[in-house]
Amino acid sequence: MRMSTATIPGYRMGDPSLPAGALDATAFERLCTATLFTDEDRQALREAKEILAPQVEQLLDVWYGFVGSHDFLLHYFSGPQGPNQDYLARVRARFGRWVLDTLEAEYGPEWLAYQAEVGRRHARGKNETDGAHETPEVVPFRYVVAFIYPIYATVREFLAKGARDAEHLERMHQAWLKAVILNVAVWSQAYVAPDLY
Ligand code: HEM
Repeated sequence: MRMSTATIPGYRMGDPSLPAGALDATAFERLCTATLFTDEDRQALREAKEILAPQVEQLLDVWYGFVGSHDFLLHYFSGPQGPNQDYLARVRARFGRWVLDTLEAEYGPEWLAYQAEVGRRHARGKNETDGAHETPEVVPFRYVVAFIYPIYATVREFLAKGARDAEHLERMHQAWLKAVILNVAVWSQAYVAPDLY
């Protein structure tokens, strides 16, 4: 079932008060070209959405299970008293919405502005949204890059449940990988000096 965005605390897609991201439409189009992200990939993501939307909670269980089974990752959700369950739950709701947003993205200015914000939330803006100030101040950039692989690999078994055949599965899986890389490329703005971004 699709969660109503109005009920997700801290979710700000489409909020006109967000600053625009660093990339305009042309720059983003070039990033798509550099990632080999095509209209076929957009179509494959829409097909993947039909399969993944009913499984978002199970997907989140896998990803949260991965974070929860590694203290050095759970650390970024934890303070001196241990893991902040309220913080974990609030981020989980936005993470679920991000899966759907990624699968149906039009990649317009609102998407670019919100993904710049999501990058900021991993970097200098971490903890602001949920008031989780007792947790570490940033997620180190190296882990954000490393996470591309598990976020990509773990989706395969979920896609396989609805794929028509092996070729369809591969097409959706590769489109998902490109989409995650595009997200992280946009998020990187928050970590990189402007003249190097
Ligand atoms: C490909 C890599 C990653 C993806 C796709 C991803 C995805 C997300 C999403 C969708 C959100 C919610 C954004 C929103 O507020 O709407 C989020 C927040 C968060 N993620 Fe990640 N993430 C990644 C890497 C990591 C890593 C490696 C960690 C370290 C454990 C991490 C820890 C967090 C934390 C602590 C928040 C909450 C930030 C805040 O205070 O607002 N993420 N992530």
